[in-house]
Amino acid sequence: MPGLPDLALRVRQAIASESATLDSLARLIAADAVLTTRIMKVVNAAALRRATPVSRLDRAIGALGFNLTNSLVTGLCLLRQTERYSGAVGERLRAHHEHAIEVAAIAHYLAQSTPGLDEQEALLAGLIHDIGALPVFAFAARQSELARDAAALDGLVARHHPSFGARILVEWHFPERFVAVAAEHEHADRRHEGPTDLLDVVIAANLQSRQRVQCMEVDAPALERFNLIADPLAGRDGARAAIEALHRTLVA
Ligand SMILES: [Fe+2]
Ligand SMILES: [Fe+2]
Repeated sequence: MPGLPDLALRVRQAIASESATLDSLARLIAADAVLTTRIMKVVNAAALRRATPVSRLDRAIGALGFNLTNSLVTGLCLLRQTERYSGAVGERLRAHHEHAIEVAAIAHYLAQSTPGLDEQEALLAGLIHDIGALPVFAFAARQSELARDAAALDGLVARHHPSFGARILVEWHFPERFVAVAAEHEHADRRHEGPTDLLDVVIAANLQSRQRVQCMEVDAPALERFNLIADPLAGRDGARAAIEALHRTLVA
């Protein structure tokens, strides 16, 4: 299992100690300029419909709340760890990162028009849904034969990433609904009573991601919940543009 990045650990400890204030958290996070920029971008992207954009980190943290700030810092720090690998594994990781960002942008878009869903949570859930692939890639980076065998590596990732992801998120005290996203997002045939939830939005976004188009043929109740079978994203006015705008924001 990968360790929690240092800054994410300190943010987590500060929040757990209950002595954290908007100010003290903002000071802690501001020490990392790249992370600060990404958080501001996520908050403002999620707040596109607000009259005034948030321009200060403490206000951004206030808008997110401590728990989401905590999860977002962890998610962003973790995705950044993918940048340190090179070669075949590095390439795979970057494709994986790109897919996570696309799923985040689609999930955000879908959540906006669904009562009861929080678009920032949806974005974060999209970012971390495949997090369990990271330990598999980290393992492959140390095994040159596996690193060169794309089919074997894909097989390992496919088999293990849901359970690894759930274990990572439990260890890092993510809320239960995020753990469920990591554990169950590959269950395209998930069917349940009750309102559309975070797991539905990630299942639908994952299936809609360009790198997963082959999955569009499966029986997927989550796609029906967002009316994506009768009215695919590709044909919706403005959907592609909104998703691509957020996507560009997240990779910048
Ligand atoms: Fe996955
Ligand atoms: Fe995925």
